[in-house]
Amino acid sequence: MTRAVTGHRIVRAGVATSVAALVWACFACGGDEVLGPASAPIEVGGSYDWRLPEGFPAPRVPEDETMSDALVELGRHLFHDPRLSGNETQSCSSCHKQELAFTDGRTVGIGSTGEAHPRNSMSLTNVGYQPVLNWANPNERDLAHQSLTPLFGEDPVELGLSGREDELLERLRADAVYQELFTRAFPERTDPFSERADPFSVETITKAIAGFQRTLISGDSPVDRYRRGDRTALSEEARLGQALFFSERLECFHCHGGLGFTGTFDFEGKSAPEVEFHNNGLYNIDGNGGYPPHNTGLHQFTLRPEDMGRFKAPTLRNIEVTAPYMHDGSIATLDEVLDHYAAGGRTVTEGPFVGVGSENPNKSGFVRGFTLTTRERAAVLAYLRALTDSTFLTNPGFANPWPGGGS
Ligand code: HEC
Ligand code: HEC
Repeated sequence: MTRAVTGHRIVRAGVATSVAALVWACFACGGDEVLGPASAPIEVGGSYDWRLPEGFPAPRVPEDETMSDALVELGRHLFHDPRLSGNETQSCSSCHKQELAFTDGRTVGIGSTGEAHPRNSMSLTNVGYQPVLNWANPNERDLAHQSLTPLFGEDPVELGLSGREDELLERLRADAVYQELFTRAFPERTDPFSERADPFSVETITKAIAGFQRTLISGDSPVDRYRRGDRTALSEEARLGQALFFSERLECFHCHGGLGFTGTFDFEGKSAPEVEFHNNGLYNIDGNGGYPPHNTGLHQFTLRPEDMGRFKAPTLRNIEVTAPYMHDGSIATLDEVLDHYAAGGRTVTEGPFVGVGSENPNKSGFVRGFTLTTRERAAVLAYLRALTDSTFLTNPGFANPWPGGGS
């Protein structure tokens, strides 16, 4: 099956890719070199055709996984299939909808049994380049492993399959479409003389979904087209916004920079993954840096006081369509996000979380506050909107493949 990706050049040569990425990174981060040295020849991607946008390196693939079109096609079917929830009402795509850059438009995710997740559903834009997953989990480093949480997690219940692995496998085995897809994706597991003769398992399910997610690559926004030389791709207003975004006054690029417009980024051949967590002053409950319970960020895992409120700086690609914002969906619009940063942190004036975020002792030194004229504010917003990649949001290769479509 061919996946329609327009405007993308196929890049397989590791060195060429890496040099292009380096050039782009330097452009995008205003001089900061965020990518590792590009001197040594780099082997990338095996024989898999990633259909990479120009200047994009290949995502890193774990050693025990092999990308193939058959794997990705199986993963796409699983990602969009409500049989992957206990009560068959939800799939991954219920909370990760393509037209919303794989978010759900809700404040926080709502699972298949109605339980609220403490956090906002994350965008899966370029998720294959994320060296650590979820809002602030430094230990979750593997896409296949990550999906075990939504599938089988009990706190909160998302897809609600805990203890029902066999039932899940029976459901899938009973479908002729899956018999074909699993056999094609895992031919080595269909050999009757092999110990692992059965291609249906939780392991193959999670590897296929990971393979599909790794193809969710977005690099065809007006900002990308401008960078590739199309001077008409950005309006004059958006170009002013770009200059402000990369300025020492606003500092956005320090945390949302580079090719991924995020602080955490990795790819095949990079010397070491880039992993950062920051406190951007969203809360300051007791004047001591407190964050709401269940949402303390990196602190939940390290228990170090200074990690309270530190989260990944998410990608800003496709940010126009992923409202509401922040780990708890507590900011409704991009205009209000700018209010937050302009004030150097958010002041919460009522309710249980009252506090002056700008005085949070753990806040990053890059969130200092600034003033913007009306024209400048409109320009920054125009630039953020120019990160929307409509090719990505409508690519039929990412859509629900099941008859009837929808998610
Ligand atoms: C109930 C809504 C919901 C469902 C269903 C769901 N997710 Fe998520 N997803 C979330 C939320 C909320 C987060 C943030 C989790 C956190 O930080 O603890 C998330 C985070 C992620 C991330 C991390 C992204 C990043 O940039 O770090 C990945 C990958 C992901 N989900 C994949 C999946 C897959 C695959 C499935 C199906 C097996 C799935 N999700 C089902 C809500 C959901
Ligand atoms: C010190 C690093 C840092 C700086 C500087 C910074 N951000 Fe952020 N940004 C973050 C972190 C961390 C989050 C997530 C915080 C959370 O959820 O608690 C975030 C979240 C966001 C979000 C919401 C993303 C989403 O998916 O919900 C937007 C939009 C955003 N930032 C835009 C900007 C803009 C525009 C600037 C410049 C004015 C900027 N940021 C400066 C670190 C930073």
